Amino acid sequence: HWTMEEFVGKEISRIRTLVGEKGQVIGAVSGGVDSTVAAKLMHEAIGGRFHAVLVDNGLLRQDEAKIVHKTLTNHFGIQLTVVDASQRFLGELKGVTDPEQKRKTIGRNFIDVFQEEAHKLEKAAANSPNAGDIEWLLQGTLYPDVIESISFKGPSQTIKSHHNVGGLPAAMHLKLIEPLRELFKDEVRILGTKLGIPEHLVWRHPFPGPGLAIRVLGEATEPQLRIVRQADKIFIDELVANDLYRKTSQAFAALLPVRAVGVIGDKREHGQIISLRAVETTDFMTAVRSHFDIENRTFLDRVSSRITNEVEGITRVVYDITSKPPGTIEME
Ligand code: XMP
Repeated sequence: HWTMEEFVGKEISRIRTLVGEKGQVIGAVSGGVDSTVAAKLMHEAIGGRFHAVLVDNGLLRQDEAKIVHKTLTNHFGIQLTVVDASQRFLGELKGVTDPEQKRKTIGRNFIDVFQEEAHKLEKAAANSPNAGDIEWLLQGTLYPDVIESISFKGPSQTIKSHHNVGGLPAAMHLKLIEPLRELFKDEVRILGTKLGIPEHLVWRHPFPGPGLAIRVLGEATEPQLRIVRQADKIFIDELVANDLYRKTSQAFAALLPVRAVGVIGDKREHGQIISLRAVETTDFMTAVRSHFDIENRTFLDRVSSRITNEVEGITRVVYDITSKPPGTIEME
């Protein structure tokens, strides 16, 4: 058995040995727990020779890029480049409605944008006297991801294409460095706390790589993304305010591409529908919807009323009660 202190010490010296005196490492961050913890560990090990990149694909949640910048740069002093690629992603997603196609489009563009940024950093790195080439790619792969990629080999068995920089290392001729590959999620959270990462970040719900694009059913356009972003923020803010966020494994709002009639003020309106999802799970392979116990009986009513009042174009709110299986956690 090992302790987290031992893990940190061992991992830092392993990273230093691997990377050497001058080697540099690049890694994508997302604002999620795994990439943040991996980045922090890397920064502890090699400081300024680690470069974090956040690709803003236009599919992030409210203020996400700002929050990541604040935490990584201002708080931790990690070198971070935020690449605003939203117009590129939204352009590529124009007219794309098939879920798998959406995922593939986002995954492909992510690799391209990240690679372009890596080349820029490589050029800059070549001019710094005390550092060598960027030879390593950091990934926040966890133990369950390792298991999953072993047991679900081959495209025929892939449940859906996961956009998690698969294919990136090969395309970039980079060697992979995966400091979290022996850890489970709860261990990553303990590690994150140990490394001084703020609570609200350590306990963040997972967020999928394809982002809000798979929570706008059908075509993900800018106006539709704006709606789902607003509704999601209300839902999450209310979960936090009512002390329900930590009791929920994952929660989010999705925007349905159908219309329903509602009354706004004294007018009948043909608006859209927001679907709320909140689930409880330990491994994300199976899940049940949150029941919200008796003292929070009116919680969903309050969220519904805020969303219909505050988000323009929404006349109706529904709660997704499907278990996984047969449902998945995400809608697409
Ligand atoms: P599903 O929808 O398959 O989701 O029940 C299970 C968990 O995985 C997350 N998810 C993803 N995460 N890239 C990710 O990094 C993806 O493409 C992706 N698709 C789903 C989902 O949010 C849930 O936590």
